Amino acid sequence: MPGLHENDLDADPVAQFSAWFAEAGTDAVALVTASADGEPAGRMVLLKGADERGFAFFTNYTSPKARDLTANPRAALVFYWPPHRQVRVAGAVKKIGAEESERYWRSRPRGSQLSAWASHQSEVVPGRHALEARVAELDADFGSADVPSPPFWGGFRLVARTVEFWHHRDDRLHDRLRYRREGDRWVIERLSP
Ligand SMILES: Cc1cc2nc3c(=O)[nH]c(=O)nc-3n(C[C@H](O)[C@H](O)[C@H](O)COP(=O)(O)O)c2cc1C
Repeated sequence: MPGLHENDLDADPVAQFSAWFAEAGTDAVALVTASADGEPAGRMVLLKGADERGFAFFTNYTSPKARDLTANPRAALVFYWPPHRQVRVAGAVKKIGAEESERYWRSRPRGSQLSAWASHQSEVVPGRHALEARVAELDADFGSADVPSPPFWGGFRLVARTVEFWHHRDDRLHDRLRYRREGDRWVIERLSP
């Protein structure tokens, strides 16, 4: 299995990421946040775009992750694409504008939209029945109209400060190549495995 060589890399980490992402077959990624007082938390989200503006994902703005990101707007993403690849991204996070969030909202199936409305994400519920009853209620309320986006839902974008590409080697002398932002350019450095 070939490894990862400096010469293989695109000068731009987003282009390099996009090449690997296209081969990955999944958009799931671990998002790591920390609260204002340093309590870490990780969970999976779906990556809904990666370009020069950053790495986008969508969620409930009152969720624990959103509370972390509001109080401490820095985060890390960890992708694992078996069997050989890991990508780590770290940087600052900002909210995606309402218009862009709305565009993505409209692309979602009605069922997902109703579920987002019904969910006070990560709050304790008496049982699944309560959630299903709330969805049925909302379904009836909205009738045949389009389901508007909830004011408590939208996206965040992580603006990368570092992006590291890791490639497995059988002898465990793995390849690690990290892009680090320095002013307006990217510096690529090899890290010890
Ligand atoms: C594969 C996968 C994808 C997920 N995608 C999202 C997502 O895009 N947005 C989201 O809010 N939660 C997503 N979740 C659920 C989160 O992992 C998590 O349970 C939820 O957002 C609550 O997290 P919090 O309490 O840390 O805010 C996903 C879970 C899995 C397993």
